[in-house]
Amino acid sequence: MTAHRFLPSGPLTGRIRVPGDKSISHRALMFGALAVGRSRISGLLEGEDVLATAAALRAMGATIERTGEDWVVDGVGVGGLLQPEQALDMGNSGTSTRLLMGLVASHGITAAFTGDASLSKRPMGRVIDPLSTMGASFTPSPGGTLPLIMEGMQPAVPITYRLPIASAQVKSAVLLAGLNTPGITTVIEPVPTRDHTERMLGGFGAKLEVEEKDGERVIRIHGPADLNPCDIVVPGDPSSAAFFAVAASIVPGSDLVIENVGLNPTRDGIFRVLAQMGANIEKLDERDVGGEPVADLRVRHAKLRGIEVDPAIAPSMIDEFPVLFIAAALADGTTETTGLEELRVKESDRLSAMAEALKLAGANVEETDDGLVIEGTAGQPLPGGSPIATHLDHRIAMSMAIAGLVSRDGVEIDSIEPIATSFPNFTVLLNEAAK
Ligand code: S3P
Repeated sequence: MTAHRFLPSGPLTGRIRVPGDKSISHRALMFGALAVGRSRISGLLEGEDVLATAAALRAMGATIERTGEDWVVDGVGVGGLLQPEQALDMGNSGTSTRLLMGLVASHGITAAFTGDASLSKRPMGRVIDPLSTMGASFTPSPGGTLPLIMEGMQPAVPITYRLPIASAQVKSAVLLAGLNTPGITTVIEPVPTRDHTERMLGGFGAKLEVEEKDGERVIRIHGPADLNPCDIVVPGDPSSAAFFAVAASIVPGSDLVIENVGLNPTRDGIFRVLAQMGANIEKLDERDVGGEPVADLRVRHAKLRGIEVDPAIAPSMIDEFPVLFIAAALADGTTETTGLEELRVKESDRLSAMAEALKLAGANVEETDDGLVIEGTAGQPLPGGSPIATHLDHRIAMSMAIAGLVSRDGVEIDSIEPIATSFPNFTVLLNEAAK
């Protein structure tokens, strides 16, 4: 573990470009691996989570290589995944695990899934339940966790599944299982979540219908699907851009352009909430990249005020609460968040990890069952200090790094390694922007 102290900084200025979207990168590799022929991906995120997906797909027969700046995937075709010879090591990545479990569920193969200490605590029952109904069988560790062994069923049975929790991973696991399941597999989403799976599967030629019915989204996939290879351009990750949007908002004098930020409406909640708090975020050159809305964001320092965050916006910014809490800690007044139980089962329990971290850095925070209540400093630097436990969670590490920029003594985190799972050049870009 490498500890690092993030020091107070001057204004963030210039232009930066954040790496590719993590959710889209995982899906581009998976769908490429299931197409018949060669897909080309540009802008792929080369973070550890995505590389874990690539390694698992290779172990099941796909050929995946970096050629120059692009990645090339030669797929095996839907139904063509091979039995992996060794356990699939998912590292820290919940998305790799749950989506790949969906793929394996409708192939006649057996696979073991393992992960690091953080991933091994996370609930897999949420995908085991629907995938078992489709015919797969599972031997998980106690509590429905990794390591686990699963046996797919070919042919699997199509189901209609209403999501009991707002989770794009669960939705995607069922839809991916549906790809190799004869008939129509249906997922009903009472609360919309990120829709990259639906958008991209359409691009690969799957027969998929999305309908609004009685206020719910109904998604139907027809199997077995034939996927055609595709050329994909991955837009920049809004979840990574969020760290810089908050940093530029709270460090006085900042004026930063973050280029190529994906602004899919199922992902852009953080920018809407920051705007409600008074942030100055301008969208420049709005365009379409790979079927996703994209813009450059110009972010200037602004006085933020505390707000009550509407829990309905949570699914569109589910990964951005840790860094929103930093903005709240510097805002004028109280920020109250509710309805965030899901944050307790992310890479760490993000409510308790952030409450503990912010208290150590000198912020005024109260943890409730389903959120945090934060009294801001109205722009005064946090005292900073003590080594912060990042709990193998990249977003805790990066959020507290941003807190360090607006602290008196700097903020030390116990380990910078987790950052490489989603944003390998985070500190390089931070040093560039905050020179
Ligand atoms: C993701 C879905 C979300 C998110 C994760 C990526 C995806 O998880 O937190 O970082 O790519 O589908 P949940 O489905 O658990 O909400």
